[in-house]
Amino acid sequence: MIYLDNAATTYPKLPEVIKAVSKCLKEEGANPGRGGYSLAIRAARVIYNTREQLARLFNVDDSANIVFTLNATDSLNMAIKGIVRPGDHVVTTMVEHNAVLRPLQWLETNRKVEFSKVPASSEGDIDLNVLEAAIKPNTVLMVINHASNVIGSILPIAAIAEIAHRRNIPILVDAAQTAGGFPIDVQTMGIDMLAFTGHKALLGLQGTGGLYISPDLEVMESRQGGTGSDSSGPQPKVRPDRYESGTPNTPGIAGLGVGVEFILKVGVKNIFNHEQILIERLMAGFKNIPGLTMYGPSVGVERVPLVSVNLTGISPHMLAHTLDKVFDIGVRAGLHCAPGAHQTIGTAEKGTVRFGLSYLTTEDEVDEAIAAVSKIAAGR
Ligand code: ALA
Repeated sequence: MIYLDNAATTYPKLPEVIKAVSKCLKEEGANPGRGGYSLAIRAARVIYNTREQLARLFNVDDSANIVFTLNATDSLNMAIKGIVRPGDHVVTTMVEHNAVLRPLQWLETNRKVEFSKVPASSEGDIDLNVLEAAIKPNTVLMVINHASNVIGSILPIAAIAEIAHRRNIPILVDAAQTAGGFPIDVQTMGIDMLAFTGHKALLGLQGTGGLYISPDLEVMESRQGGTGSDSSGPQPKVRPDRYESGTPNTPGIAGLGVGVEFILKVGVKNIFNHEQILIERLMAGFKNIPGLTMYGPSVGVERVPLVSVNLTGISPHMLAHTLDKVFDIGVRAGLHCAPGAHQTIGTAEKGTVRFGLSYLTTEDEVDEAIAAVSKIAAGR
């Protein structure tokens, strides 16, 4: 098949990632940090190694400030609920995923928290003056989508962080669509918390992810439990133990480490440039298809390697269904868990069909997708 749903999960996984997971299960399968015998120490080394690779990727000085989670949703919940208290206000954007919007809606309903959504243009840009004007005296956090999972647009994080920091407000970045595929430097970009998932551009497994928390930021842990350290007292304050109660997904984290190693070897900038070539090739082909609308930044403007489209006369679900059944091409249709992004581009009713490429997508696959959509358009 041709898999073009990489914005949801990258697939297939690199052989070396699969090998690392298998090796971990066979040779490093004990409980990390919970025993002094050699198998447990090997398991702890796996976790440490992946944490160090991620620290290199995001320019984090001390890898103890990166904690492992289940995915970006888990990280975002942990970060938002660890900072925001009743009576507080949060600034966010219209293009956020439900991983941000739903925790905020829950806090609004159950904890008397307020939040403001800064609108975006149909190209996914936000007006930084409007963002600044949304700050209130009780604003305690800005939550910003680095790249929209629907529109593909990339927001200027460093400029946004500067605005937030002028008012002493920390910024939490949802890097679900960028981590591994777009250069991220938490220090030069001024990122206080970075939520990422392992299963997209980091090329790892589902059920892996993480959160970077600036050493200067106090974030309440969302759960307590066994950490393998300091067992006699209350939850330890030391990082990463404070935020990592319970046995971690060591095999998944082993695979993630190898995915990150691959990215570091190839270079994130090279990955991004290659993906730009692929997405521009897809968009150039789609441009010639009568009745096809593409959303988001125009060709030539940086975007993550996804494009949402609609074809006149056929619903997004029917287009995706036809691509699957007739052409064996996997894409995602609908609202993509980001209703505000669809309101922004005027597709809130039925959504779009999203084509998500990855570094491993080939030019032939791109060309076959263009040919398939052209045939469907011609046969309407
Ligand atoms: N958040 C993922 C997506 O955009 C699953 O499809």
